[in-house]
Amino acid sequence: MSIPKGSIPKQTQLFYGADYNPDQWQHAPEILERDIELMKQAGVTSASVGIFAWTALEPEEGRYEFAWLDRVMDRFAQEGMFVFLATPSGSKPIWLSEKYPEVRRVNKNGRRDASGGRHNHCMSSPVYRTKTAQMNRALAERYKNHPALALWHVGNEFSGECHCDACRMNFQKWLKAKYQTLEALNEAWWSNFWNHTFTDWSQIPTFDESIDGLSVDWLRFTNDQHVSFLRNEMAPLRELTPNVPCTTNFMGTHEDTNYWVWSEHLDIISNDLYPMPDDREETWKQSIASDFIHSMMRGMSGGKPWMLLECSPSSVNWGQINKLKRPGAHRQEVLQALANGADTIHYFQWRKGRGGFEKYHGAVVDHEGSDQGRVYQECAAIGSELVSLESLCQQDLPQADIAIVYDWESRWALNASCGPKAAKAIQPYPSDITTEACQAHYRALTVAGQSVDVLSVQSEFTDYKVLVIPALYMVSDALGARLQTFVEQGGILVGSYLTGYVDENNRCHLGGFPGAGLRETFGIWNEEVDYLHDETEVSIVAELGETYRDVAKDIVEILHAESAEVLARTASEFYKGSPIVTSKQVGLGAAYYVGAKLGDDGLSQFYQQVLSVHALHPKIRMTMPKGVVIRQRESAQGTLAFLFNYKREAQSIELHDQTLRDLATGDLLTGHVELKPYASHVCVIDI
Ligand code: GAL
Repeated sequence: MSIPKGSIPKQTQLFYGADYNPDQWQHAPEILERDIELMKQAGVTSASVGIFAWTALEPEEGRYEFAWLDRVMDRFAQEGMFVFLATPSGSKPIWLSEKYPEVRRVNKNGRRDASGGRHNHCMSSPVYRTKTAQMNRALAERYKNHPALALWHVGNEFSGECHCDACRMNFQKWLKAKYQTLEALNEAWWSNFWNHTFTDWSQIPTFDESIDGLSVDWLRFTNDQHVSFLRNEMAPLRELTPNVPCTTNFMGTHEDTNYWVWSEHLDIISNDLYPMPDDREETWKQSIASDFIHSMMRGMSGGKPWMLLECSPSSVNWGQINKLKRPGAHRQEVLQALANGADTIHYFQWRKGRGGFEKYHGAVVDHEGSDQGRVYQECAAIGSELVSLESLCQQDLPQADIAIVYDWESRWALNASCGPKAAKAIQPYPSDITTEACQAHYRALTVAGQSVDVLSVQSEFTDYKVLVIPALYMVSDALGARLQTFVEQGGILVGSYLTGYVDENNRCHLGGFPGAGLRETFGIWNEEVDYLHDETEVSIVAELGETYRDVAKDIVEILHAESAEVLARTASEFYKGSPIVTSKQVGLGAAYYVGAKLGDDGLSQFYQQVLSVHALHPKIRMTMPKGVVIRQRESAQGTLAFLFNYKREAQSIELHDQTLRDLATGDLLTGHVELKPYASHVCVIDI
């Protein structure tokens, strides 16, 4: 890779723009001119072009039509703007999928998709790989020296699975390379159960929910297939344009894509995020869930800048209720991404299309078409604010003291295991126990004023003071040993319910949970787990019984403290008195275990105690209610503080020893400060 990770060589300012579909407006050339005018007026620097434009680029096999795109590229260059040129693999031309049916996916029932839809190509199909590589080569040949070309936007939101014969054969080959022998595979999958022993590689199906080892391997394989497809797409781009970085847009914690693996192959990390405003709920929790995802992008880019490549400037059109963002909420989302290391803010979409599935999706420019709309004007104001924040551009985001481990494979293993109660989804994210647990711990630490990084199980842990592994269900012996070493050498490890149940093959650890050596590390034996109905609550009291009171819900483990000290116990149910929060000194460090799903306040109290015992204080001292968040990011002019009120109600804070100066208004924030609903202040820190 010739480009340093996280950089776009042509970027000298924060990029601001949108997905732009001029291919839909070829019959109306005046629209392009009007768009350029409106973009300039709104401070737009860049646009992602051509994401679903394959037929416009190749109307029939082998006949390319670049004239419309030439015009867009040239006009952008003339105006000093940039294009993130998409490869159009996200949606197959109908001529292609009719002529070569093998490019269409096959579902679990063996039925091949009809042409149409999108994001539904077969990743194994040699024809589709050849056709996408040819298209990408043609694009790269044509625009390799074009001044507007800043970035390759490869495909769009890859995901999903295909069960065709080619994918099944590739899966069998992948398994053979992994296990070498059928004996090893049968042992890893515990295939004697229900008589599922395989005696020939060709017998192995792509799914069988009763073989939970297979389910996890299938997701690993499918993830690898996507990455291999992506690499095939990038090969001609890398060859012809070695100085133009490649990205593909992620979808946060999307269930079937292990983005830790993908991120190793990309030059720059980008993500799409659509928090759904719903003021019947506690929106501040959703905002912190967005921060969690942003922190993960920071983790994937190794602290380098990343891109928010899609967000809506107003509502989406695919929710159950498509509510508009309340005043201040959108500016806050933009600043939140910047506070967490983004150097690019792009919308879906620039202009509402006239027809089709997304004609009512939020856009900067409405069907009305002028600059008079509320959304356009709000976006234009943000555009000029971003110019004033240019000093953030290309500045790394410093490492936090605390990290949470988020592992897709562990999530897959847990979801594939029949028994643990499914967690309720935290809308709008497809969620599950793993994501919910990680976000709850991230939230409690955020409420305590801490910055938190998000890491993979492969990451280097040693530079962190605190490592949190919420519901890290799958722990191999090697990982268990690394965690033990982390604690022995002075780290503080926090584990939670459902940690260390299975090995890398989704087989239960023998010898008592948590396995892989963690029984010794935490000093506990988790004998049983009680999954509760929604309305059931189990009382929790602190060992000394005074201040700490909470109720646990959903999941309560029945623990024995073997060499750990008990910090809190259950106070109801037949297991009343069993330890629920424990701590153990190990070498120079300490290991804490939280064996139940505590309430938000209970978890916050737990962290307050841990952080104060280990003298981990927030960098900026302030008294703040839940839903107020402060973050810091370096800029070319020193550290900037981003202060947010994530709630739709006004809230007040007390700054103890710092004065902050709001960059936009010049106001000084000191002592007691009132924060308006959805207030966002970007501040210089005057000490
Ligand atoms: C994204 C997708 C965009 C657009 C958007 C609407 O998932 O990449 O093309 O459909 O959703 O919210």
